[in-house]
Amino acid sequence: MFESPKRRRPEVTSGSRGHEEVKFRDVTLYLVERRMGKSRRTFLSNLARSKGFCVDDSLSGGVTHVVSEGNAAQDLWMWLEDHGLREAHDTHVLTISWFTESMSAGRPLPVEMRHHIQNPAVERRSSSSPAPKPVSTVSPFACQRRTSLDNHNKNFTDVLEVFAENMDLSGNQGPCLAFRRAASVLKSLPATLRHPEEMKHLPCLGEHSKAIIEEMFECGRSSKAEEILKDERYQTLKLFNSVFGVGLRTAENWFTRGLRTLEQILSDPSIRLNRMQTAGFLFYDDISRPVSRAEAGAMKVLVEDAVKRVNPAAGVCITGGFRRGKDFGHDVDFIIRTPEPGQEDGLLPAIIDRFRRQNVLLYADLQESTFDLGKLPSRRFESMDHFHKCFLIVKLKRDDVCEERERDEDGRRDWRAIRVDLVAPPIERFAYALLGWTGSTLFDRDLRRFARLERGKLLDNHALYDKATKTFLSAETEEDIFSHLGLEFIVPSERNA
Ligand code: UTP
Ligand code: MN
Repeated sequence: MFESPKRRRPEVTSGSRGHEEVKFRDVTLYLVERRMGKSRRTFLSNLARSKGFCVDDSLSGGVTHVVSEGNAAQDLWMWLEDHGLREAHDTHVLTISWFTESMSAGRPLPVEMRHHIQNPAVERRSSSSPAPKPVSTVSPFACQRRTSLDNHNKNFTDVLEVFAENMDLSGNQGPCLAFRRAASVLKSLPATLRHPEEMKHLPCLGEHSKAIIEEMFECGRSSKAEEILKDERYQTLKLFNSVFGVGLRTAENWFTRGLRTLEQILSDPSIRLNRMQTAGFLFYDDISRPVSRAEAGAMKVLVEDAVKRVNPAAGVCITGGFRRGKDFGHDVDFIIRTPEPGQEDGLLPAIIDRFRRQNVLLYADLQESTFDLGKLPSRRFESMDHFHKCFLIVKLKRDDVCEERERDEDGRRDWRAIRVDLVAPPIERFAYALLGWTGSTLFDRDLRRFARLERGKLLDNHALYDKATKTFLSAETEEDIFSHLGLEFIVPSERNA
């Protein structure tokens, strides 16, 4: 018997910096990790250092040569500009070929035209003599776009959202997100798309989305979307899913059993509704009707009144769609702000109790806090956060709503049911909770994605964690969070992504 030769492990080289002698003092390299990947970047950086090059790990002012591999020019420049590099700088932005040739030569080679990665925005601005076309600088991240409610591409986005919803209802989350992203990009545009060509410069538009829009340019409609809208399965799942407490699994189950209407559900003796679903059916007509801004305002007065009785120093902030300026919502979302840590405890049960005594509470689902900073950062985003919160159905008296309307017809009850969400985070988590609950869902999703991919940070409704320094970053306001992420602040009314 003889021992098989031990397989050699590749040497870890990342720690070997600083020993090599710098030979080329007037050259400082920076390798873009995006697309190149972390390990290849580390490998190439160490290779360059071993040959006497100076390599900076961050894009500092001293960098003379930026090297990128596999990035489209437009994406790369967008990224570089985000990281503070301006085209006016005399930094070379180069393809990997300059780097590999220089490594082979053992010295920095003179930069040739073919090595340069031009900024498409500048090229376009300086070349053509007729009025230069506006250049697309639309970011693939919703948190770098301003999306007001003024949607100039509603005909396209409505159709894309039908496709998204159809995918959502059939459990295809990937394609659903792709359609939502495409719709979101169009919502952010300052003008209506006039020609299919204009799609070329837009991020996040996949083949399917493009084909749909092209068909709409050709025929003025999308035949596929019309088919979906007529599809029995789509219609039924959408109907069932619109009941408070009925998720996709239940909707699917009922559909498979041949049920098609809400009446059939209610009259089927084998179906046992849970407490939430029961409330959902009881108040279906009311809560499937949009809540107006005036109603949301009246509800705020009601919530404020209850909160003040429990803690006079506490405040109430409206969040969700209404904070983004929407005129209608499917519910009203509030965050309760208590000035001292710990004051959030017990607040929600007391509010619920008050509503009950006022005889306006129709349904309450109280979720105690499971927040524990020790369990953060969480690498997986959970759709539900860990704060104290409650999902309610509350009676809103018509007389409490200051809005122009016709007098009640005879026999109509003097109140309507409204879905209300309350969340009560600890004060030091307030800014994160507010940002998360203001949405839109896609805006927040892209904030988290941006933080992770572009900044090496983990963001959720509770905290922002910097992986490089292994620390949590504190924030008193939403502005603090944007600034930690190196993002321009976007006001809530421009987060309608
Ligand atoms: P909504 O579903 O109420 O959305 O959640 P919306 O934008 O207000 O839409 P409408 O106008 O009611 O139809 C509000 C925000 O709260 C977040 C959601 O992700 C969304 O961005 N949210 C909700 C959380 O962050 N955590 C939760 O546990 C629940
Ligand atoms: Mn809402």
